[in-house]
Amino acid sequence: MTELNKIALKIISNGKGILAADESNGTMTKRLEAVKVNSTPENRLLFRETLFSSESMKECIGGVILYDETIQQNSSLKKSIPELISSSGALPGIKVDTGAKELANSPQEKITEGLDGLRERLKKYYKIGARFTKWRGVYIINQKYPSRLAIHSNAHALARYSALAQENGMVPIVEPEVLMDGNHSADICLSITSEVIKKCFDELILHKVDLSGIILKPNMILAGNKSKDNITNEEVAQKTLECLKNSVPSEVPGIAFLSGGQSEIEATENLNLINKQNETGFIMTYSYGRALQQSALKIWAKNINNKEETQIAFNHRAKMCTLAAQGKWSNNLENN
Ligand code: 13P
Repeated sequence: MTELNKIALKIISNGKGILAADESNGTMTKRLEAVKVNSTPENRLLFRETLFSSESMKECIGGVILYDETIQQNSSLKKSIPELISSSGALPGIKVDTGAKELANSPQEKITEGLDGLRERLKKYYKIGARFTKWRGVYIINQKYPSRLAIHSNAHALARYSALAQENGMVPIVEPEVLMDGNHSADICLSITSEVIKKCFDELILHKVDLSGIILKPNMILAGNKSKDNITNEEVAQKTLECLKNSVPSEVPGIAFLSGGQSEIEATENLNLINKQNETGFIMTYSYGRALQQSALKIWAKNINNKEETQIAFNHRAKMCTLAAQGKWSNNLENN
């Protein structure tokens, strides 16, 4: 077992999942303004620190993805943020892409940037405690897109990033996110997501990335959010499993889904159904941002010093997701 494989398994084994708290300052400002809290560095830290010092960090969270600002902040407990996360047994991770920008010659689409100077940044992040990294490619679905250009160029960037992360001793989270925006059917999402993931693995293999030392972070197979396709949660689970079984090489230790705009309950229920039927051999867990933080954020926004109630909401969500990662979640447990 390689060191990278050990790190990947430590993050996602035994029902543990990932807390994606790596919103850029721009995205975090939108989230905070939506609940009428000023987006200052202190407030961004206070909310995140409240989550990172919750009880459920020990049993449920194997890794936390941070943003550049947060990984360099100190907690009020006189520890650095990576130390605070490590003290609960979870591993600190870092988003290293610098965002999705307009793709030249296909301006409706995006290419994720951040390769220039990446080796040096990775070395700095490792020194301050990061043991895994994240890079997100983003794809739209409509009549014309995604183009072969977007599928190819994002896969290439994900592979170059992954090779550099591994060179520096960190597990890359490979996140190709096919967005749910649009009126496409779930079957279109299935065929496009499969093509996108296969292309990513072609490039990862070409770049000699150790597949046993990555975590794939895909979207679930959903109908577009404006689609009339009435797909059940059972079908979401079946199609998601079909997609991954046919497009992910068996060396990959695990898959950690993004929530991508699903509600907290939807993201939990779908993950649970996936795990009830999972015969792929891959660990299937969560790497949720919104679906782990939404309830906690609403409560915190009412009184930003109410640590206890905020943590109760976060602990509940993390516990429900960890049950779902083992196929043990139920509506009863959700509501009691
Ligand atoms: P969501 O779960 O809110 O989609 O965020 C996950 C993530 O890390 C997106 O890059």
